[in-house]
Amino acid sequence: MEQTKKRNGFASGFGFILAAAGSAIGLGNLWSFPYKTSANGGAAFVITYILSVLVIGIVVMVAEIYIGKRAQANPITAYKKTHKNLGWLGLFAILIPFFIICYYSVLGGYTVKFALNSFSGNAGNVYSFVGNVGDVILFTAIFVVLAVIVVMAGVKNGIEKASKVLMPALFFILIAIAIYALCLGEGVSEGLNFYLNPNFAELGFEGILAAMSQAFFSLSLGMGIMVSYGSYAGKEIKVGKSVSMIALFDTLVALIAGLAIFPAVYHYQAVNPGSNLATGGVLLMFETMPLVFESMGALGQIVSLFFFAMVVIAALTSVISLMEVVTQFIIQKYKVNRKKAILIVAIITFAISIPIGISLGKVLNGDNSMLICGENWLDFLDKVTNVVLMPLGALGACIAIGWFTFKPNKKSDIFNPMSLHRQLEKDGLKLGWFGKIFAVMVKYVTPLLILVVEVVGVIDFIAPVVNGVRTFSLNGLGIVLTAYGLCAVAITIYFVLYKKHNTGCNADELELDKSTASEKEEVIENVIEEQAVEVATERTEEIKE
Ligand code: PFF
Repeated sequence: MEQTKKRNGFASGFGFILAAAGSAIGLGNLWSFPYKTSANGGAAFVITYILSVLVIGIVVMVAEIYIGKRAQANPITAYKKTHKNLGWLGLFAILIPFFIICYYSVLGGYTVKFALNSFSGNAGNVYSFVGNVGDVILFTAIFVVLAVIVVMAGVKNGIEKASKVLMPALFFILIAIAIYALCLGEGVSEGLNFYLNPNFAELGFEGILAAMSQAFFSLSLGMGIMVSYGSYAGKEIKVGKSVSMIALFDTLVALIAGLAIFPAVYHYQAVNPGSNLATGGVLLMFETMPLVFESMGALGQIVSLFFFAMVVIAALTSVISLMEVVTQFIIQKYKVNRKKAILIVAIITFAISIPIGISLGKVLNGDNSMLICGENWLDFLDKVTNVVLMPLGALGACIAIGWFTFKPNKKSDIFNPMSLHRQLEKDGLKLGWFGKIFAVMVKYVTPLLILVVEVVGVIDFIAPVVNGVRTFSLNGLGIVLTAYGLCAVAITIYFVLYKKHNTGCNADELELDKSTASEKEEVIENVIEEQAVEVATERTEEIKE
């Protein structure tokens, strides 16, 4: 059985690292990190962000990859294997990516359109693009098709191979553009000053929270992504080393992106005095950057092409990871082949992305007729998932590992992180000098910090500070209720549909690929054997209790 399971996964440790880094490095790095940094005290934000990556990000990522790796299965089965009552966390971890795909694909469509436009001289005008609903839908579809092609080819032949080519390409393009931007002369130091000027007063408590939730989003944490990728990692893949590399690449790309963007923007302002370009939100990427490139003449056209190609790559490798989580679950639970599963995922998410694209386009063109809770549909979903749901998912991963996976030998050991450390090592999670620290963090420190992010984030929605005074926001309440409503739906679906049923493991994928009858029989036997073991283990546990 072991052999059956090993066959569909990443071929190498470095392939795994690049694929996970591909998920992590996305629009969050190239675009939200730079503008959030500039808006929240520059270097003060960067320091807080790096601390968040160290004390929250790395711990949650180790926990998630480890949960997947030890189970070699989709998030529901994987969480069930941490504790028989925690499978609902897995469903939750599959639903969040489902919603993120819907809005991320719309932005992905924008990036494809702007990359293609760059061939013809100008990356484009965002207002006229979004005014044409047909174009928005078409380019969202093209982006989704690109992702589907990769996911359809499988983990080893699709995701891993694509990441091995695309991630180094992204890195080199980014470095080249950053060097070019830093050599522009006029305006460069003002740009750097705007981006990195350390201002702790400007950071404030809100900036700290923004840094923490940016860390979840940027590292693709708090949902099934790292659990699912971890499930394709073989025994030889070292969790600790992989996580440190993924976090390092992700943070470097985010930092360098700002070094490429702001010097270029300020150079433009210096050369065109009086111009006032947007330095945040969708407009930074799709209004400001095209103008900046256009002003650079013929060379700007090439830079523009490379810049938007890089953004397409970043968005694509991220959406691939989101699609893989949902696809893996459908394959294993419903026993359909990969092709069918990815088509189901793509068609449903694409259908939902259409009104999202229309709503964003309307708002950009000043038409507020399609809002939910005062936001365009994209920002609404973004807030529901990022601010409320992702921290909850991350909290779940820490609590599952810190408190539920292992039964301590003595009652007094329940609260002892060193006992957890010993059990983790025995179970195969060898983290070296970081092992003991990890045990303390995952059990106490990180969950507490995440709880603060969650609670303060929710309070800020319901009672935001306006002109220095806390006021009640019905729209904010709507966002919070939607998020918790989704949690309630996920838990209900889980207990009605999945609790008592087997949700499959990676071996099931092979069952569908096998062609000969005897091979099929062999795999079915394996799966039956596995189910029997699972039932027997659950019974034994029940009897013990
Ligand atoms: N980490 C990606 C980014 O920084 O853009 C976005 C993302 C991908 C978030 C996958 C969540 C996810 F599951």
